[in-house]
Amino acid sequence: MWTYPRFLAHRGGGKLAPENTIAGLQCGLDHGYRAVEFDVMLARDGVPVVMHDPYLGRTVAGSGNVFDYDAAELVAMDAGSWFGARFQGEPVPLFTEFVDFCRTHGIWMNIEIKPADGFEEATGKAVAELTRAIFGLEIAREDPMVPLLSSFSTVALAAAKAAAPDLPRALLIDDVPPDWLAQARVLEAVAVHTNHKLLTPALARQIKDAGFGLFCYTVNDAARAGEIMAWGVDGMCTDRIDLIGPAGPR
Ligand code: G3P
Ligand code: MG
Repeated sequence: MWTYPRFLAHRGGGKLAPENTIAGLQCGLDHGYRAVEFDVMLARDGVPVVMHDPYLGRTVAGSGNVFDYDAAELVAMDAGSWFGARFQGEPVPLFTEFVDFCRTHGIWMNIEIKPADGFEEATGKAVAELTRAIFGLEIAREDPMVPLLSSFSTVALAAAKAAAPDLPRALLIDDVPPDWLAQARVLEAVAVHTNHKLLTPALARQIKDAGFGLFCYTVNDAARAGEIMAWGVDGMCTDRIDLIGPAGPR
């Protein structure tokens, strides 16, 4: 069952602001969004930061891996200029800063654990522990603002489950693995997150019939949003927060 918002701004503000930045969250807010998906990985010193790519070069000028730098070095880097001059100096956010902003503004979070290769367990554990420490009260009173952790990495999700069993988890899949149902059950996931391009009505029915919430990434077309909702999709994230609003296609 899906008890969360139905429409999420992908990577903060979708494609209207630099991804995974506070400016992106602000852009989402400006478009009426109070729900977000974003990506988290570990810096060299084990501190989680909000980044999609495990390397520098696309959204942050520079070279090397995210895990080659301490968090203090990463937050001093410019994650905005690549997108546009007016975002120059927009920093790489610490996970805790990003979460603080969301809590302050009542933004619900789907936290995607995005480990670099070899860091699956450490990333799942660190993100779950920090999230649990921050949301202890909300978890205890089953508050709807408790975030949902998701990951393509079943190792990261298993580590998150071990570290914070009472935080909800979702299995993220791209190509549909034949054992997706077993994976979701072992992880005690509440939802399965699928690539909408690979979803079929039959798969949607299987996921729903098995009792899971069904979420899709990343839907940037209003007609497609309507089509998959008719298949039973509960929620989705979008880059086009201008076309698909917090209540659905605008
Ligand atoms: O969480 C869903 C979606 O964000 C997965 O793809 O590459 O945009 O993180 P990606
Ligand atoms: Mg993501």
